[in-house]
Amino acid sequence: MDFLRMSGLLGMGGLFNSFTSKKGNTRSESLDAEIQEKIKIAGITGNAFHLKADPIPKVRIALLGLGNRGQSLIDMLNWLVQEGHAEITAISDINPKKVQRAKEQIAEFQSYAPVVFTGNKDEWEKAMSTDIADLALICTPWEWHTKMALKAMKNGLHAASEVPIAYTPEASIELVQMAETTQRHCIMLENCCYNREELWILNMIEEGVFGTLTHAECAYLHDLRQLMIDPTYYEDRWRLKHHLQRNGNLYTTHGLGPVCMYFDILRGDTLTHLTSMSSGEAALSEALAATNDPELKAMASQVTCGDVNTTLIGTAKGRSIMLQFDVHSGRPYNRLDKVVGSKATHYGYPSRLYIDHGASWDGHRWLSNEAKAEYRDKYEHPLWTRLQKLAEEHPQGHGGMDFVMMYRLIRCLNLGESLDMNVYDGALWSLVGALSEASVTAGSERMVIPDLTAGKWTESSRHPVGREI
Ligand SMILES: NC(=O)c1ccc[n+]([C@@H]2O[C@H](COP(=O)([O-])OP(=O)(O)OC[C@H]3O[C@@H](n4cnc5c(N)ncnc54)[C@H](O)[C@@H]3O)[C@@H](O)[C@H]2O)c1
Repeated sequence: MDFLRMSGLLGMGGLFNSFTSKKGNTRSESLDAEIQEKIKIAGITGNAFHLKADPIPKVRIALLGLGNRGQSLIDMLNWLVQEGHAEITAISDINPKKVQRAKEQIAEFQSYAPVVFTGNKDEWEKAMSTDIADLALICTPWEWHTKMALKAMKNGLHAASEVPIAYTPEASIELVQMAETTQRHCIMLENCCYNREELWILNMIEEGVFGTLTHAECAYLHDLRQLMIDPTYYEDRWRLKHHLQRNGNLYTTHGLGPVCMYFDILRGDTLTHLTSMSSGEAALSEALAATNDPELKAMASQVTCGDVNTTLIGTAKGRSIMLQFDVHSGRPYNRLDKVVGSKATHYGYPSRLYIDHGASWDGHRWLSNEAKAEYRDKYEHPLWTRLQKLAEEHPQGHGGMDFVMMYRLIRCLNLGESLDMNVYDGALWSLVGALSEASVTAGSERMVIPDLTAGKWTESSRHPVGREI
């Protein structure tokens, strides 16, 4: 079976076909064999795992996609530009109004006016030159991420992409292959890995508070119906189109990224297999049917993505992860952020901590707010302690995590350090989404999660986010 068709990989027209138009008959074994063959052909060696590139004293940025996220990341660059660590040298969007808005936004803190690439969907390619930029910052719709990151690296730039960076297995493989061949950084910008609560939990884990970790539950539960239907929010309603044509976990990384840090994934453990199930669909189609727009009403019968997707993932060390995705149902935002160890348990939303006192103790209650505050103070992550004041004084983005993320990216590039997350992390977290779709299509069949690191994952190390930079 032709799961790995390259033809439809990157263009909007064909890419949705790669798994979801194949009705039934998906077999984990044949898919695994095809992926293994692709990995073999790609010649993956793991040589970009601790990649360091020459220091770039002032990182020249080509920003692709100037919508909601692009605009927000411009704000995150304000301080870095003013300090001389970075400069936005090029911007690109197909929508001239967004270009104009971005130009005005950038002019508020940067004297140099970036070169503009607009007018058609391929104009961004002209910005992918080392004469113009060192880093491609990719904030476009999902279907562009892999293509833009590959082109950037091929032309000698580093690539930093919004999430997910890929959503087919071959795209994950191609990204790893390109990063290894070109020795360019390729980072997927998973901002939740820099959130204060997640960093605090990571620090407690590293300091032994949780004992032996066994299980985690994470998610992206965010009612996006209104935004997906709104004709002006996502350009050309790109996000809704994915939900019309794909079924599985389309957005794995906000929940999974932090859990992979907790579990030392690719740094001593790895994700080995998954099974995925989608519920039926009702909430999005009912919302579409309730509009007054005939075009949207017609879409009500076309929604493919189930309301709630649940994926169970196993790791090489025998840990389990429950990962959920739901952007259709009306309910409060939640990433769950649950982690279970032999000595402590944390549940997020709201944050609750349980410290175990042995099997005979019958407390079975979350710590009081006062007792938890002691843990918050004692185990605040050093990265957060170092950057809190700076983050609070500047546009923060999602409570500060976006600022910290951009700070780390640019400062690592300035100093010629390896990045906090490498191409293998982004490729793996994205691959889980692709395989969840394959599993759902195959009636929740078990899918093998292949190793894209050539065995580098077995080398234990502390997560690089703790380095002082
Ligand atoms: N990490 C986060 O917290 C977070 C938050 C929001 C969005 N995102 C991600 O950011 C990305 C963008 O989302 P958004 O909400 O900004 O969407 P958006 O529709 O507001 O912005 C996307 C922009 O890309 C432009 N674009 C599309 N094709 C292009 C092309 N070929 N060349 C140049 N520009 C092109 C569109 O015109 C649009 O302005 C998505 O991947 C999304 O998942 C991440």
